[in-house]
Amino acid sequence: MKPISLSFQWTSLLHFLTRMIFINNEFVNSVSGKVFPTINPATGEKICDVQEGDKADVDKAVAAAKEAFKLGSPWRRMDASKRGKLLMKFATLLERDAQYLGSLETLDNGKPYTQAFGECYFSSDVVNYYAGWADKIHGKTIPINGDYLCYTKHEPVGICGQIIPWNYPVPMFVWKIAPALAAGNVIVVKPAEQTPLTALYCCALLKEAGFPPGVVNIVPGYGPTAGAAISNHLDINKVAFTGSTEVGQIIMQAAGASNVKRTTLELGGKSPNVIFEDADLDTAVAAAQEAVMTNAGQCCVAGSRTFVQESIYDEFVKRTIEKAATRKVGDPYDTATEQGPQVDEEQFNKILGMIESGKKEGAKLNCGGSKAADKGYFIQPTVFSDVTDNMKIAKEEIFGPVQQIFKFKDMDEVLERANSTTYGLGAAVFTNDINKAMMFSQGVQAGTVWINCYNVVSAQAPFGGFKMSGLGRELGEYGITQYYEVKNVVVKIPQKNS
Ligand code: NAI
Ligand code: MG
Repeated sequence: MKPISLSFQWTSLLHFLTRMIFINNEFVNSVSGKVFPTINPATGEKICDVQEGDKADVDKAVAAAKEAFKLGSPWRRMDASKRGKLLMKFATLLERDAQYLGSLETLDNGKPYTQAFGECYFSSDVVNYYAGWADKIHGKTIPINGDYLCYTKHEPVGICGQIIPWNYPVPMFVWKIAPALAAGNVIVVKPAEQTPLTALYCCALLKEAGFPPGVVNIVPGYGPTAGAAISNHLDINKVAFTGSTEVGQIIMQAAGASNVKRTTLELGGKSPNVIFEDADLDTAVAAAQEAVMTNAGQCCVAGSRTFVQESIYDEFVKRTIEKAATRKVGDPYDTATEQGPQVDEEQFNKILGMIESGKKEGAKLNCGGSKAADKGYFIQPTVFSDVTDNMKIAKEEIFGPVQQIFKFKDMDEVLERANSTTYGLGAAVFTNDINKAMMFSQGVQAGTVWINCYNVVSAQAPFGGFKMSGLGRELGEYGITQYYEVKNVVVKIPQKNS
């Protein structure tokens, strides 16, 4: 489906509302009266001002959520199956408005419209998946010693603070809200300051779907103000975050120091993608490039360390360079475009700085390496070979369209090198030898291992990291377990002869 021009809608009421704070099912202004700009990364120009929430607005949102979570409230009394139905309705609305939502995302984030549109459908899948869980979250009966009935209940955690990033604004929003709502929680969300518009549009859809006031509240704003107010809040019971490892550590400290919030973190990565000499070469070249360059490289699970076995190394590098040259970078509304701009100037400068450091430290720059347009934050698809493990580009997350190719000899060596990182989010191996595939998947420290594929992420399967890539899991059944408390209930059973 083609993108739609947003200009004619620009003055519409709904569009106006999606620049505001959403509390108690109403769009409101910030307490301080402050606003912040959101920028179109394809041009560097301001799209509009958005109401800027901070602590006072988070306090208001938490108060609304608290009211919605009171025993006896419509939300607490709602049948679990009805919660599922509301989620299903929301999923339908995400699909109904995918063209508009995708177009809005492209404007605010810069990602190609075809991807943004597809992400609305993926998000709808996730919401539908969790809709099915709503009335299947239940405990056990346990045969303890003595004359007792012992059972567990899985109860909502309460008020969940959710802080989301800018790289996949709609999917990250629904990964967090859908399991929380299925389990009966109430929510205060802070979207990323770079991309607040689509989450705010989704509020209108949540309201239309019929969620009661106060169940989902959205406070756009900056991390150190609105974000910190969430992670430090004494009435928020859980915080879920996706973003940088650095901020994840700050959030975990704040969660612990304030009130021991339950915490789930989905953080950075430097994921190894290992190509053995027996792999199908063209498939591996294409998959390895997509693994790191998808979403302009702005992907937590990017396969940003391509390890290639020495016997095929030169040929692999040659074909990779040829492939990079065909990648279509440009207008994100053009449906042929594969790569749009980076999300903002900060990311753009960070990536160009990382490319400079790669050159300085002696990696071979084969193609790309510079900005790709005079305006906007476009970067050329960039390929480095002869990368060694001690280089900055080998160790740190770049979050850009920059591929690093390393050479390796054998399984033992590559496993050791794949694991010598503080991260552990994803990993992949390309080989036609089942023994190699199994050995690698057994030995690598990562939350997801792909064999002869990459970036297959599904509503039904868990996603998350080992080591400093995070804490807890999102998606699938594992994801729902992060949104309930287990209550153990013991009942004395009177006996006939006692
Ligand atoms: P970030 O971690 O600062 O931002 C992510 C979210 O956290 C945003 O909503 C932001 O407002 C919020 N935040 C920032 N500081 C906070 C604080 N003190 N308390 C509470 N919330 C806070 O990421 P940023 O600065 O946008 O990007 C920096 C790097 O982080 C990227 O270059 C990339 O390497 C990594 N990153 C990883 C992501 C992932 O998917 N794992 C997503 C975004 C960034
Ligand atoms: Mg930051």
